[in-house]
Amino acid sequence: MEICRLEHIHKDYRMGEIVTPLKDISLTVDSGDFIAIEGPSGIGKSTLLYVMGTLLKSDEGDYFFERKDVSKLSDREKSVLRAKKIGFLFQDSTMLQALTLRENLAFSQSIGEKTDSHRIDALLERFELKDRENFFPFQLSGGQRRRAMAARALIHKPQLILADEPTNDLDEHWAEEIICILKEQAAQGAAVVMVTHNPLFAGQADRRYRLENGLLINVMEENKEDPKHENETV
Ligand SMILES: Nc1ncnc2c1ncn2[C@@H]1O[C@H](COP(=O)(O)OP(=O)(O)OP(=O)(O)O)[C@@H](O)[C@H]1O
Ligand SMILES: [Mg+2]
Repeated sequence: MEICRLEHIHKDYRMGEIVTPLKDISLTVDSGDFIAIEGPSGIGKSTLLYVMGTLLKSDEGDYFFERKDVSKLSDREKSVLRAKKIGFLFQDSTMLQALTLRENLAFSQSIGEKTDSHRIDALLERFELKDRENFFPFQLSGGQRRRAMAARALIHKPQLILADEPTNDLDEHWAEEIICILKEQAAQGAAVVMVTHNPLFAGQADRRYRLENGLLINVMEENKEDPKHENETV
């Protein structure tokens, strides 16, 4: 089942010089997909996730979410869409500093108009944060905050999970665990789009792309065509 579709998306930033992170991007994301996007720093990976998360409008091209044209939705309708259907794991910390971890989770849940304390408990357990539920964000370690943000992104059972370098700040065990949790979400029917610099993690995705010169290159097809890569395991 199609969750979202980008068609010929083009995005410029005009701050003095013109930067074109997205030149012509087309991608269809289905329920159950686990997609990795790689590419060097500053190339436009986060920009792509912002467009997919309906936070940023493209200059050209179309973006469809569940076959609805996102450009035809009002700001209010987009907020509702994000609150109910999209889980965003931002690259930087975005928790509300004046709320405890548990309150942050409950707040995110309430925006999606659901309250389910069992879901909060289950996620706190899954991310091994139950004993930190009454801590404020500044009282958590960097890795605990990252796990908390992952829990928050999943709190409303989103159809689309956008994870921007979700393994940042995490030790090896937790980095692997986060990938495992994202895979579980995809197996349960969510679509996951993950930006990562780690080729081992990207290798675990069903589809793997590299963002380059504003275009998405399918890394797997490229490897098939290039005999040099034949014996690579990642
Ligand atoms: N709001 C903005 N206004 C102007 N330029 C921007 C804006 N946001 C991003 N850029 C520029 O667009 C380019 C792509 O940025 P983006 O954050 O998408 O890169 P990235 O691939 O996510 O990089 P990283 O791996 O470092 O996170 C960068 O050159 C950045 O400076
Ligand atoms: Mg980024």
